[in-house]
Amino acid sequence: MNNDIVIQTIHLSKSLPIGGIQLEILHDISLEIYRSEMVAIVGPSGSGKSTLMGIIGGLDSATSGQVIIDGIDITTLNERKLTRLRNEKIGFVFQNYNLVPTLDALENVLLPMQFSRKRPNKNQEERAQELLDMLGLGARLHHTYKQLSGGEQQRVAIARALANNPTILLCDEPTGNLDKASATLVIEALFEVREKTDTTVVVVTHSQFLAQMMDRQIEIVDGRIQESILIEEG
Ligand SMILES: Nc1ncnc2c1ncn2[C@@H]1O[C@H](COP(=O)(O)OP(=O)(O)OP(=O)(O)O)[C@@H](O)[C@H]1O
Ligand SMILES: [Mg+2]
Repeated sequence: MNNDIVIQTIHLSKSLPIGGIQLEILHDISLEIYRSEMVAIVGPSGSGKSTLMGIIGGLDSATSGQVIIDGIDITTLNERKLTRLRNEKIGFVFQNYNLVPTLDALENVLLPMQFSRKRPNKNQEERAQELLDMLGLGARLHHTYKQLSGGEQQRVAIARALANNPTILLCDEPTGNLDKASATLVIEALFEVREKTDTTVVVVTHSQFLAQMMDRQIEIVDGRIQESILIEEG
């Protein structure tokens, strides 16, 4: 792993006015995540994990502090530039897969390519097939979501998030709806992604079992970084 920082937050805080008072949701979060690192964000429900992912991914804004994505301070970008950065550098995976139900696996993966400004240099369909192959779904290209298991749907969602070759993959409880066996397959797929594409992968999870498979865990409690644990290789 090199020391190239792709995600950096500097004194990031977020508060929202709730019932007449400012509720502090994130407090002074400073962290660094490196290229092709695989990091788990853990912590109790309501501690601010999803809020942090939303801010890192440019879907939500901070109240103060900076968010630097691949060298660019996204807190200074206007909406148009932020949207472009998000489309080019960030892939999102959520708990509920969010596949388009009327499309098959291949068509779901093709969708973001067709919306992108960037013209892929290879045939789009070939690239979509390669992504699904990499995620172990080469034999499921023309299945719609009803014909896929939960774990398979989530792997299609991961392939879709990778369609435009993002620098960073942000996954918010990607295995939250899956049993342990399917969850393990999804996490193994994420390792495969990192191995083959150098993508930095950040995963919010409630599962200690899964968090321990990652390179590092960052624990958020009450909107603050509690602990950053380096998992020993072995
Ligand atoms: N738009 C909002 N308006 C008001 N409060 C909010 C809003 N978004 C988040 N919160 C509050 O901020 C806190 C952090 O929420 P967040 O969704 O980030 O937690 P989380 O760690 O992802 O929890 P979970 O593990 O349950 O998904 C919670 O107390 C939540 O109620
Ligand atoms: Mg959450």
